Amino acid sequence: MVEYKKPGPDPQDKAAYVRAMFNSIARRYDLLNTVLSLGRDRRWRRFAVGASGLTRGGRGLDVACGTGMLALEQALVVGPRGLVVGLDFSGEMLAVARRRLAAHPQVRLICGDALTLPFPDDTFDAATIGFALRNVADVPRTIAEMARVVRPGGRVVSLELGLPRAPFFRQTYLLYFKRLLPLLGRLGVGCDGPYRYLPASVLAFYTPEEISGFFGAAGLKGIVCYRLDLGIATVHVGTKG
Ligand SMILES: C[S@@+](CC[C@H](N)C(=O)[O-])C[C@H]1O[C@@H](n2cnc3c(N)ncnc32)[C@H](O)[C@@H]1O
Repeated sequence: MVEYKKPGPDPQDKAAYVRAMFNSIARRYDLLNTVLSLGRDRRWRRFAVGASGLTRGGRGLDVACGTGMLALEQALVVGPRGLVVGLDFSGEMLAVARRRLAAHPQVRLICGDALTLPFPDDTFDAATIGFALRNVADVPRTIAEMARVVRPGGRVVSLELGLPRAPFFRQTYLLYFKRLLPLLGRLGVGCDGPYRYLPASVLAFYTPEEISGFFGAAGLKGIVCYRLDLGIATVHVGTKG
């Protein structure tokens, strides 16, 4: 069993920690995702792909694609004549994605790093990232890389977990998120680390306003932040000028 050590300030440290964690939970990830989000995750992913502006025949990139759930939503939108590239640095998460997407030849899955995307400038119509900005070692750089590889007029979209603002709902949600979720996660994967990391990483993450600031710093325009289900999930959208 992998032993989880809290990542230190070194970016390499965080990357190694995150990769090992996702490699170890890959086979249970989808089920837990659905259970822990109370079945809302698919709806959020569809919203994010809708906001990306992708259409039939388009070219989409899904950064940190994990088990391919967001890439699948992209594939359904672009159809068989489109192209979807899913990129992740966890071999085990990609193995699950390969099984999921076997019937969608328009999807290519590659092992790579979100911080140095292996594509020329202006390659895609849209780039998405789902529940993963929190996990990368350098958030502004990841957004800048996504903006670089999207064509002018294309969109960059981030779907991320957030925290509700309404006081009563926030307290109730925090109780679930900080106390119950780690217990359920432990039952699901058989160890403590990953589902303690999840609430800790959300609580320590940038505010939606800060993420909008990073989108702006990457040269994206018309930045919008949607708060879904009272802010449990947020979707940032920006357009390359
Ligand atoms: C919470 S999962 C999200 C997976 C998927 N996007 C989804 O919607 O379910 C986070 C993913 O980010 C990947 N990841 C984190 N940092 C990365 C990096 N620098 N480059 C590539 N993938 C990364 C992890 O391997 C993991 O698969």
